[in-house]
Amino acid sequence: MKQEILRILSFNKGNFVSGEEISEKLKVSRTAIWKHINALREDGYIIESQTRLGYRLVKKPDLLLPEEVRLNLNSRIIGSEVKYYSKIDSTNTEAKKLAQMGEKEGTVVIAEEQTGGRGRKGRAWNSPFGMGIWVSVILRPQISPVEAPGLTLVAAVAAAKAVRNVTGLPVKIKWPNDLMLNSKKVGGILTELSAEIEVVNFIVVGIGINVNNESFPEELREIATSLKIEQAGKEKLDRVQLLCELLHRFEEEYFAFITGRQKEILKQWKGLSDTLSSIVRVIGPSSIIEGRAVDLDETGALLVEKEDGSVERIISGDVSL
Ligand code: BTN
Repeated sequence: MKQEILRILSFNKGNFVSGEEISEKLKVSRTAIWKHINALREDGYIIESQTRLGYRLVKKPDLLLPEEVRLNLNSRIIGSEVKYYSKIDSTNTEAKKLAQMGEKEGTVVIAEEQTGGRGRKGRAWNSPFGMGIWVSVILRPQISPVEAPGLTLVAAVAAAKAVRNVTGLPVKIKWPNDLMLNSKKVGGILTELSAEIEVVNFIVVGIGINVNNESFPEELREIATSLKIEQAGKEKLDRVQLLCELLHRFEEEYFAFITGRQKEILKQWKGLSDTLSSIVRVIGPSSIIEGRAVDLDETGALLVEKEDGSVERIISGDVSL
């Protein structure tokens, strides 16, 4: 009901809608409507009420509330169920717990703040309240575990396209999963897998994007940035719009992935990459490789041509350009 009232008020944003009109449309009493309006006010919505005119939505809260996400979402599966937390340790950890208990494909876990946000290789992910998009998506593709890294490419392409579409900022992808803006990191992806030898049980893809952060802790200042900092007008961005665009693009790329159109994803990834054709230094688990990043193979591995002309296939590591 709250959702329906919000839909009506949002549709008429800036104009009054009478209590009578809302109660007729939704077939509930005016007292019930008044209660739901108060609940929305408690969520942070500013709703004006005037005796003869009714209700008018003045301002929405700067939160990723599920009602707002549903209102603005264009996708069918990804985001069909939203689990929302004001504060949580990590959306990936929560999504894995839910998936283990049988949560369906497409459910997303969103938090305003993560107290134990996780990055690759056990690193911490800075996730202050209300500043970014900290989201995890539960997937149940019928693929073999070796194909799972392809979903990191799916997420990277979707995130880069979403940011570009909403902000016009030229975000690039640094292999394997960093979103870069003006040589600083603005986002990252953490893909986690639960599988047996031949089958995937579920996959959780976590995406973090620094959206409205104005500053970073000392140790990140040189290497991290946010969309707001990099934007010419330094204006606050609409996180709901960006999240919904991200989930929409994610669904598009995910459908391409599960219907065997990996080549399309790879082509887009290459077009958005800042790694390919650059001279790179890759610090891997057991060695350091230097050379020119010449290509990405169909599994998402990076191909680096060394000075002696030999090509090294790299499946994990940290790239510096
Ligand atoms: C990286 O660049 O190392 C990956 C960062 C991934 C961060 C996101 S934020 C949402 C999700 N929950 C987490 O704990 N991590 C991912």
